[in-house]
Amino acid sequence: MIVLLPGDGIGAEVVGAARRVLDAVAPDLAYETHAIGGAAIDEGGDPLPPRTLEACLGADAVILGAVGGPKWSDPRAAVRPEQGLLRLRSALGVYANLRPVRVIEALAARSPLRPERVAGVDFLVVRELTGGIYFGSPRGRDTESGEVRAFDTMSYSRTEIARVVELACRFAEGRRRKVTSVDKANVLESSRLWRETAEEVCAEHPEVTLEHQLVDSCAMRLLTHAREFDVIVTSNLFGDILTDEAAALTGSLGVLPSASVGDGTRGLYEPIHGSAPDIAGKGIANPVGTIASAALMLRHSLDRPDAAAAIEAAIERALGAGALTTELGGDLGTEAMTDRILDALA
Ligand code: IPM
Ligand code: MG
Repeated sequence: MIVLLPGDGIGAEVVGAARRVLDAVAPDLAYETHAIGGAAIDEGGDPLPPRTLEACLGADAVILGAVGGPKWSDPRAAVRPEQGLLRLRSALGVYANLRPVRVIEALAARSPLRPERVAGVDFLVVRELTGGIYFGSPRGRDTESGEVRAFDTMSYSRTEIARVVELACRFAEGRRRKVTSVDKANVLESSRLWRETAEEVCAEHPEVTLEHQLVDSCAMRLLTHAREFDVIVTSNLFGDILTDEAAALTGSLGVLPSASVGDGTRGLYEPIHGSAPDIAGKGIANPVGTIASAALMLRHSLDRPDAAAAIEAAIERALGAGALTTELGGDLGTEAMTDRILDALA
């Protein structure tokens, strides 16, 4: 069983599009739809209601649209949509977030960078997802210094680092065998443990070349030499930031998928874009990121690599034939773009 979590903003539109494509390639799959994020707060005050969590824990895979929006973003709010997503990632034990970044030829001209800089870019970001500053304690506020002070904690255990680096090495073995571990080891103690652990783990994978890079220079190299990357492995916060930057290389945040995985086959699949409240309900959201995430689900969680490859090829064919949503300079809405992908499947 697959749980659909449309969430907020454009979430319902893009998840609906992915469902149409899934119905075409895998009509036998069963679904349940549940509330998460701001929509769930509106229903019952909890961004991850027990029924939603229970369904996800019992599912083979979960597809999520997006969470959050201006309605729930008051900085003083005690309950926030994003808490639902973070709790879900943690409860599912999906400690690695895989974000493949590939510049599709048809979109190279849409990149803000010169096409010759982005042509052939093909790397995988493995972002640690259930630790680091997103989950560290203590966090909060105090007034001990006479004024209000807020604090978060960035902490990593050796185990948390080792398992995600191990996964990165295994992916690298199936690719160009290069891992770039990104940290801020010149400043942060947690980064020094990260670097040390990455060395130890990669030593067990002799055919993989490991390089270390500081996050600030990695941010620059993504714009200047993105082709050099094969697998990037990094902490939760750095991965969050770098993948939005990486997405821009491809021309649109709207086309990038992600898979969050742990030790088993169950996974959480979501586009890397957010809830885009400015365009929600207009029928113009780009469905490609979510449809591509559904393909990742078919491959990683459901062991249907052929169906996954069929979707990926159809996306590429549709884009190659000039099917583009408005943020990419085209004139297709969500439905029409999905139709073009369905046509390309046939
Ligand atoms: C992402 C998002 C989330 C994150 C937010 C919505 C909590 O930005 O999946 O990249 O920061 O992980
Ligand atoms: Mg993000």
